[in-house]
Amino acid sequence: MKVLYLFGPNLGALGRRDPALYGSATLVEIMAGVERRAEELGHEVVWRQSDHEGELVAWLLGAADEGAGAVVLNPGALAHYSYALRDAIEACGLPVLEVHMSNVHAREPFRRRSVTAEACRGSIIGLGAGGYHLALEAMAWITG
Ligand code: DQA
Repeated sequence: MKVLYLFGPNLGALGRRDPALYGSATLVEIMAGVERRAEELGHEVVWRQSDHEGELVAWLLGAADEGAGAVVLNPGALAHYSYALRDAIEACGLPVLEVHMSNVHAREPFRRRSVTAEACRGSIIGLGAGGYHLALEAMAWITG
């Protein structure tokens, strides 16, 4: 199955952005590991990052047409307020798993609510880059 990974604002800065919270690996390094594991599991991974809400909306709405069977999404801070992204998750017609690397429940109060997660099939929170790997393992449970 083709799994589309989408990353929102500031996630392109992983590696130099608050390493104590997000680790020292870049997004390219993290996704190279995910791609290796996907190959073992027989999945194809495609991934993209954007700092722009509209671009993420367009990618979600186009996900089924490009042949994806599921989406793994870290919306970054958009998770906490983007109803446009939430609508796109609902409209995309695919199971979407939300991933947050940090434990958003143990940080500032505004991070405790994710309006996008409410439209997702499930969420993985607080496991660092491991969350992107776990999302792959979860595919067997959420698709089929
Ligand atoms: C994040 C959590 C968000 O609150 C924050 O704005 C991010 C990263 C995470 O992966 O922990 O950009 O989505």
